[in-house]
Amino acid sequence: MGTPPGKTPLIFRSPLEVLVLRVEGERMSNRLEIQFHDGRCIPQLGLGVWQTPNETAVTAVQAALQSGYRHVDTAAIYGNEAGVGEGLKASGLARSQVFLTTKLWNDDQGFDSTLRALEASLKKLATDYVDLYLIHWPSAHRGRYVDSWRALVRLQSEGKARSIGVSNFESEHLHRIIGETGVTPVLNQIELHPRFQQRALRQEHARLKIATQSWSPLGQGQLLTDPIVLAVAAKHGKTPAQVVIRWHLENQLIVIPKSVTPSRIVENFAVQDFQLDESDRSQLDSLDSAEGRIGPNPATATF
Ligand SMILES: NC(=O)c1ccc[n+]([C@@H]2O[C@H](COP(=O)([O-])OP(=O)(O)OC[C@H]3O[C@@H](n4cnc5c(N)ncnc54)[C@H](OP(=O)(O)O)[C@@H]3O)[C@@H](O)[C@H]2O)c1
Repeated sequence: MGTPPGKTPLIFRSPLEVLVLRVEGERMSNRLEIQFHDGRCIPQLGLGVWQTPNETAVTAVQAALQSGYRHVDTAAIYGNEAGVGEGLKASGLARSQVFLTTKLWNDDQGFDSTLRALEASLKKLATDYVDLYLIHWPSAHRGRYVDSWRALVRLQSEGKARSIGVSNFESEHLHRIIGETGVTPVLNQIELHPRFQQRALRQEHARLKIATQSWSPLGQGQLLTDPIVLAVAAKHGKTPAQVVIRWHLENQLIVIPKSVTPSRIVENFAVQDFQLDESDRSQLDSLDSAEGRIGPNPATATF
């Protein structure tokens, strides 16, 4: 069966990715999910809540869940796990309907301290499990990320973290934890956006069957005034944020744009009614730059 000229099929190519049709009460929603190597699935588009104060997290999470999001990304260091838990409760959704991620902060690295850190996060989130627990940074100078990873393996076996992964890990860190424990993280959450595309690390992830999640997917808002992004947005009658989010989705990336603004939260989720064409993709791909990193470099970070 061919695809009509000018149209690309809405089924993506990655074996990791499946299109899931799910019935939720009376509403049928058509949502993309990525399947992990452990068999579990993550909604491909979620809400990020970094730099969101605790009280604001309540309303942002509630607005997102009311708009159809089913995935929220927080971290112990964001100081808003309690607000995220409250927002989830206020939404009226069952805990099982929402994919919740939190992260181990660097100061808590080490086997026993990691076990305690997740307990503290669960208490604040008012839940007895997270869907995904991540080591936030390798923080390699501390020399504890392998012990922390062993603790995550334990937490998964206890059901307190359904899936386990990492964030800001480079290839050498990934190989070290896999080599020493035999357990491969399901996902690596890294800085990734059209100006910093991390192609080499993404290829390594594909080889290892690790899903890639993009943090600062909008370049912390900086990409939204880029002339190329503006031109593609104008061509499709979409907003710059929608174009950038679409670029992540079509690259099989899991994407967690942050907004505390209700209208933007809705806008960022309304991205399933258009597709980028080859010319859009090649223009956006051309923005990649070795100098495009906005956040800290995991190889040199000392926190
Ligand atoms: N693992 C890590 O080390 C790490 C590091 C950084 C981030 N993260 C995760 O990734 C998430 C996203 O990254 P991020 O927060 O750095 O930045 P981002 O999502 O790239 O950009 C967020 C910024 O863009 C603005 N924005 C969002 N939607 C918009 C729209 N439709 N139109 C115009 N402006 C819009 C937001 O403003 P308003 O909020 O004012 O609307 C905010 O200023 C974080 O929240 C966090 O969950 C993880």
